Amino acid sequence: MSATDEAISTQDLIARRSRLLGPAYRLFYDQPVQFVRGEGVWLYDAAGHRYLDAYNNVASVGHCHPHVVQAIARQAAVLNTHTRYLHETVLDFAEKLLATFPPQIGHVMFTCTGSEANDLALRVARTCTGGTGFIVTANAYHGVTSALAELSPSLGLPLPEGSHGHVSDALEDMRKSGIRPAAILVDTIFSSDGVFADPPGFLRPAVEAVRKEGALFIADEVQPGFGRSGGKMWGFARHGIVPDIVTMGKPMGNGHPVAGLAARPELLAEFGARSRYFNTFGGNPVSAAAGIAVLEVIESEGLIENARPPAPISPIRCGNCRRAIP
Ligand SMILES: Cc1ncc(COP(=O)(O)O)c(C=O)c1O
Repeated sequence: MSATDEAISTQDLIARRSRLLGPAYRLFYDQPVQFVRGEGVWLYDAAGHRYLDAYNNVASVGHCHPHVVQAIARQAAVLNTHTRYLHETVLDFAEKLLATFPPQIGHVMFTCTGSEANDLALRVARTCTGGTGFIVTANAYHGVTSALAELSPSLGLPLPEGSHGHVSDALEDMRKSGIRPAAILVDTIFSSDGVFADPPGFLRPAVEAVRKEGALFIADEVQPGFGRSGGKMWGFARHGIVPDIVTMGKPMGNGHPVAGLAARPELLAEFGARSRYFNTFGGNPVSAAAGIAVLEVIESEGLIENARPPAPISPIRCGNCRRAIP
């Protein structure tokens, strides 16, 4: 394909997309790219150019990883139903996933997207605390449902009146307004706030303050989970706190829509006593097979260890005076 043909075809696709999908969708880059194939860390456009995918937050074990592709294809060729039927694969997935959490986290519920997982977490928090107030970070993004859009300042929607800069102010404000706090909802690597990892444990005082008021800690692991923040499976681990609810998505199926939440059993006991839960596609056998395969690749290829942040380099010291040499 010549450079001119390529430009025309890109313009045609942009026009077609806008005609069919409308104006709410956004494309990446001033010169949008059309990828036609992916393999490992590489993406290929229609003209055969190869791009290193240093951005990706979904296909985290590599594009079209053969182990994941085969697991999806194998299960899709046999059966795909839903969680109203007994099926071992979803239980194998639940078991394998729960083994990655601290022992206090004992149940998992499956959804198709991170938004659904967060929305369900809000429902659980409201049911279990009787509260309605949620605390989020200044530029948070937690999903597309109307409840979550209101808790996602990064979308640019107007913030509710009385929004505050500090957790203690927010709690005080809720107290004055007669609002019972339900939870603090935090992306544990603060990806839309600018990525904040250090110092480890800095999230702890905020969580302790919220818990003192009877509210929960929901760790949004949609971005940092599955080893993506380096050295640990989950972003909350660097803060030394066990969440009440953990939500997950993006890398969970390496591109296949797999998401969910994991929680303390006593919370889901309360929620389950008052509500039923069913999600048509969430936890189906093909998605479960994809999820198992992702966990197997993370394990077999040592990906968490591979993403461990380097240890700080100790300074070189003078042999005589032991002073650090700049
Ligand atoms: C931190 C965080 N939470 C939740 C979501 C929502 O996930 P989904 O797009 O799968 O609904 C996203 C998506 O970008 C996210 O980054």
